[in-house]
Amino acid sequence: MNSDNKRILSGMRATSPKLHLGNYEGALRNWVDLQNKGYEMFCMVADWHSLTTMSENSGEIGHNSIEITKDYIAAGLNPEKSAIFIQSHVKEHAELHLLFSMMTPLGWLERTPTYKEKKAEIEGAEREPYGLLGYPVLQTSDILLYRPYGVPVGRDQAPHLEIGNDIGQRFNRLYKTEIFPTYKYLIPEDETRAKLPGLDMRKMSKSYDNGINLSDTAEETAKKIKTAYTTPTKIKMDDPGIPEGCAVCQYLKVYSPDWQTQWEEDRQGLRGCSKNKNECIEAVNEYFRPMRERRAQLADGDVLEILNKGAERAREVACATMVEVRVAMGLLA
Ligand code: TRP
Repeated sequence: MNSDNKRILSGMRATSPKLHLGNYEGALRNWVDLQNKGYEMFCMVADWHSLTTMSENSGEIGHNSIEITKDYIAAGLNPEKSAIFIQSHVKEHAELHLLFSMMTPLGWLERTPTYKEKKAEIEGAEREPYGLLGYPVLQTSDILLYRPYGVPVGRDQAPHLEIGNDIGQRFNRLYKTEIFPTYKYLIPEDETRAKLPGLDMRKMSKSYDNGINLSDTAEETAKKIKTAYTTPTKIKMDDPGIPEGCAVCQYLKVYSPDWQTQWEEDRQGLRGCSKNKNECIEAVNEYFRPMRERRAQLADGDVLEILNKGAERAREVACATMVEVRVAMGLLA
């Protein structure tokens, strides 16, 4: 693809109806920036990928997909500019996944760190779904169908992105084609944002239930921040704090314009944790207020219409790629 390729593809799974601030800082914020810089965005809700862990409670996936789409739009994705769509609405993702599955070495998949982690949580092959191993192959199909310039994701996705480029290059070599150019990994550089901790200072994660959600109300946010982890040795107001190890201070650094003063006062024992918490609540609620207002305006019907249009745009690109793929492989296109 030539140098004016400004296409971007990314996605998130639909395992929960709520995206949290870690999802926003790790990826979504970057999508919005790229959109506003003029890139042609394809933003997907990876509903099929949710099934690797949700096949027994798949009934929630449709609802989750709508709610996540609302979070995307609330965060600033503009459906007039960016194609927002559901993975399963564009069947070409499944077709390319099947074709890639025939030429992807098993060893690449067995070595994937995310696979090894998930496998360790599951007891025995009888309980391990076939699709789990192929997760990165489906993700590669999601990406390469759009032949993007770059893929903006959180850090944890880097191993999947590497396999994706390896599969693309292997395809090119096998079928003597240049259909799949390599794409760039667009991973946030700002450490504090990229690694925004959960309320307990562990990684912010739905499974730890330690997150603040984009869709939380101001009151819910306040309640959560009041329980957040702070410097454990700071008991009295004038005990010195260690802002680097305090969840509230980490949020202040990202959302409060005055964070430097707040950190310095914390360090010197000039302020107590409850003052920090109150100012943090204010800063976080102020930052997310416009997004939450935008979210409240979105009706399910509007969202479904946006998703239909998004899938149409995605299908145009995906179908064109598939014709080239079939021809390159010698199948009847
Ligand atoms: N695996 C990604 C995650 O867990 C979601 C995803 C699916 C994705 N397909 C993708 C991300 C394609 C980027 C590109 O967050």
